[in-house]
Amino acid sequence: MAFESKIKTIEWVDNYSRMVDQTVVPYEYKFVNITDGEQMFNAIRDMIVRGAPAIGIAGAHGAVLFAQQLAKEGLNRDEFVQKLIEKAEYMKTSRPTAVNLMWACQKQIEVIKNSASDIAGIIEELKQNAIKLENEDIEINKKIGDYGAEVVPKGATILTHCNAGALATVGYGTALGVVRSAFAKDNTVQVFADETRPRQQGARITTFELAMDGIPVTLITDGMCSYFMKKGMIDMVVVGADRIAANGDTANKIGTYTVAIAAKYHNIPFYIAAPLSTIDTSISSGDEIVIEERSREEVTHINGKIICSDKVNVINPGFDVTPHELIAGIITEKGILRPDYNKSIAEVFNTSKS
Ligand code: MRU
Repeated sequence: MAFESKIKTIEWVDNYSRMVDQTVVPYEYKFVNITDGEQMFNAIRDMIVRGAPAIGIAGAHGAVLFAQQLAKEGLNRDEFVQKLIEKAEYMKTSRPTAVNLMWACQKQIEVIKNSASDIAGIIEELKQNAIKLENEDIEINKKIGDYGAEVVPKGATILTHCNAGALATVGYGTALGVVRSAFAKDNTVQVFADETRPRQQGARITTFELAMDGIPVTLITDGMCSYFMKKGMIDMVVVGADRIAANGDTANKIGTYTVAIAAKYHNIPFYIAAPLSTIDTSISSGDEIVIEERSREEVTHINGKIICSDKVNVINPGFDVTPHELIAGIITEKGILRPDYNKSIAEVFNTSKS
């Protein structure tokens, strides 16, 4: 059963992209208009838009924006196509870990390569494809939500890490899509949200969007999860994913791995919720996933204020990889994949080639 969420994170409007500025949530809930390709590259890199599926759509919008710009340069069709493919490839490099970005840019490259139209026609096809991907994202999330809701016990407390919600997608969310669908069936379900240092997506974004939708949420800091697990206060864990390897190893926001280990120790099921576009069957294990390194200021500062010695060394990987043995299931739009993931992932791709 679908819950109606009020949030639409990113949307193509006429000839530009409109998105929620996630750098200012929850202090402000405002939209920014992205009107050229380079601006989109920066919006992804600087996390104005974030979350794997949302940055995928942003990449698709970026390709349309670059196409609109190149159309003004007086190029012939062949030159236009070649330069546009280069720009779409460049857009893939705006962040390294979430594979949805590469996936969606590649979808746009296929549109360009397969088009028989003139320049104006190619732009229109790219626009229509971006809008299609946008609409599909919400539909896919609702399916993920409904499959996931089937494994949520009555009155469950669900722990989540980072934000895999409406604001990490076009709308509805993956992990929080499961929460929304479960809550629609049983309004005694509630969420515990990890703060998720360093950028605090759990505190800033997950609590904001759940409160906006009237879903009960309790904020905890990252180190608290095992304390509440031991007390029997967590029934299951559901998180999103940025890239899933063919064997089920899953990259998600830094700290996810720790939660998964704690869940295993306490015999609590740990689920990943993600669309099939997050599964990268070209890599056999999580060892091949490139982990984004982010700035030292994300760690040394909170809200612009330094919280440590300015001489301290900092390492700031944005993601970690949870080994497949810790994952009870991967909730997708085609159902819940179970171990052995090498088999279940291969099977789902064989039966649902898109
Ligand atoms: O760095 P972010 O905020 O883009 O990282 C997001 C996450 O790690 C999410 O948990 C993940 O993308 C899943 S989004 C549905």
